[in-house]
Amino acid sequence: MSIRRPPFPRLFLNDVSCMRNAQQVLHHVNVSLHDGGALVLTGANGSGKTTFLRMLAGFSRPSAGEILWNGHNIQESGIFHQYKLQLNWLSLKDAITERFTVLENVQWFELLEGKQGKAMPALELMGLGRLAKDKPRMLSMGQRKRLQLARLLAIDRPIWLLDEPSVALDDEGVKLLEYIIAEHRKQGGIVIVATHLPIEIEDPMVLRLPPRFPRRITFVDMLDRVDIN
Ligand SMILES: Nc1ncnc2c1ncn2[C@@H]1O[C@H](COP(=O)(O)OP(=O)(O)OP(=O)(O)O)[C@@H](O)[C@H]1O
Ligand SMILES: [Mg+2]
Repeated sequence: MSIRRPPFPRLFLNDVSCMRNAQQVLHHVNVSLHDGGALVLTGANGSGKTTFLRMLAGFSRPSAGEILWNGHNIQESGIFHQYKLQLNWLSLKDAITERFTVLENVQWFELLEGKQGKAMPALELMGLGRLAKDKPRMLSMGQRKRLQLARLLAIDRPIWLLDEPSVALDDEGVKLLEYIIAEHRKQGGIVIVATHLPIEIEDPMVLRLPPRFPRRITFVDMLDRVDIN
């Protein structure tokens, strides 16, 4: 009788540490993610959530340990190029250009991807259909975030790295974000989200990064301690 081994995780962070600005930010992180999995990164400002995502996106290398994709170190030549094509990156820098209309800002990314046809439906799902022909300067902050989310859908890559994706979204926008995350996972996609705000994600792994520096006594703490009569 043969025993079926569990599949190798799609993404595996094996004892990973990372430096930023010559200081160690992440210490010996171990995470494994299978298709359909979700990881939520939480922690204080400066604790390393964005650093974690940047490292997964390949902008910086682990100072120790290894990141494995399908069992291969992403730093290996030949692997990194394929791995990068799996990633969809959403950050506070929205890479929206004023030269293009709202629709073209999504189509441009689609074109780079060699795809077409999903830009308009994605904008419509995000509630931006009527603004498709406008220039992005007409968009509010939340609408710009919705445009970024429309890009995620149009490009349609399996691993989503989302840095504070709900910032500036209204309640309906957050619901849409939760919906597209759930749908992406149903199709086997992986989602890694750094967030301070609550986002409803079913059965996620949660990694709470410890604060990098102990909190100093603030002016408010001092006032609390003063016995004012
Ligand atoms: N551009 C940078 N250059 C050098 N060091 C940086 C840079 N950005 C951040 N750092 C350092 O890396 C540490 C981790 O920062 P990071 O941006 O990953 O934190 P974060 O958890 O995403 O914080 P936030 O909740 O504010 O988004 C910070 O404490 C800071 O010292
Ligand atoms: Mg951050």
